[in-house]
Amino acid sequence: MTITALDPDFRVDHHLDGDHDHALAEDVLDGLTRPFKELPPKYFYDARGSELFEQICELPEYYPTRAEREILATNAADIVARTGATELVELGSGYATKTRVLLDAMRDAGALERYTAFDVSETTVLACGDQLTREYAGLRFHGVVGDFDRHLDTIPSPDGPRIVAFLGGTIGNFLPGSRRRFLRGLSDLLGPDGYLLLGTDLVKAPDVLEAAYNDSAGVTAAFNRNVLSVVNARLGADFDVDLFEHVAFYDRTREWIEMRLRARAACTVTVPALGLRVAFAAREELRTEISAKFAPARLRDDLAAAGLDLETTYRDRERRFGVSLSRVAR
Ligand code: SAH
Ligand code: AVI
Repeated sequence: MTITALDPDFRVDHHLDGDHDHALAEDVLDGLTRPFKELPPKYFYDARGSELFEQICELPEYYPTRAEREILATNAADIVARTGATELVELGSGYATKTRVLLDAMRDAGALERYTAFDVSETTVLACGDQLTREYAGLRFHGVVGDFDRHLDTIPSPDGPRIVAFLGGTIGNFLPGSRRRFLRGLSDLLGPDGYLLLGTDLVKAPDVLEAAYNDSAGVTAAFNRNVLSVVNARLGADFDVDLFEHVAFYDRTREWIEMRLRARAACTVTVPALGLRVAFAAREELRTEISAKFAPARLRDDLAAAGLDLETTYRDRERRFGVSLSRVAR
């Protein structure tokens, strides 16, 4: 681990140095040798992937960001009053664009002391630290460049009421079993007085969902294909990125969007770092992401299974997205 600054009011911890390529290598070996090929979504987010995600958030078809921003803008003061939080810890913070609504409400309540940005994307964590400490005088900033599957225990325990925010619907990118395991693993981070503020995209008409992941400008397609560029750059693989087409569809039984990359023609990919050659048949698909959509029962059951009590769920006017507040069951 490296710490970039000794200033207690501005600190960035790096947990991925070297280690991330090792984890990527293991995941690629595992994922590309399965009968149904798969790569975990965390590898979308190099500097370009994070930038493409920001562009996705502005797309007319991609409603989740606008819906969640509306929810936060309407309810931030209530969230701050209910939680009494002086600290905000954000997981998968990205560029933290919507987070400012919460930080503003905490500042207005005279409660804002510390913000922790935790993300696998170094560029976004550093950008947040730079910008937010300028925008919020006296803010204590703690950046953590890490993987929330492995490094959550590096975040110090709370010394007062804190909000742990997991926004954007990123919880939907876990498979169901891992989702519950992840939520269960948050109890130390929350402590007895903390609140989980969780953004979840809601089940809705399949055409609306599918449009959000098949935008007409092709940004989501570029974001999806970017994972192959990451594997090429980091492991020396030779994916012909343009040979793979973007596929996204709503699975009505599982109630999730599934993103895949489909080989337009048969090909063989080599991954020298792994001594691996992988054959793709023509039209063979590689799963790159699921994005689960939540009905009230899915959220309630997941939280209960993770030992969390749901206190309230806020929704936008069109009821497209939910932001819930929950805490560790006593
Ligand atoms: N919270 C922001 C960004 C959501 S995009 C919003 O609501 O707009 C998902 C974010 O989670 C990205 O910034 C990505 O880099 C981060 N992320 C994905 N997998 C991660 C992992 N395993 N560990 C840490 N961060 C991760
Ligand atoms: C980060 N996550 C919640 C996004 C989603 O909608 O599942 C990632 C994304 N994939 C395609 N578009 C956006």
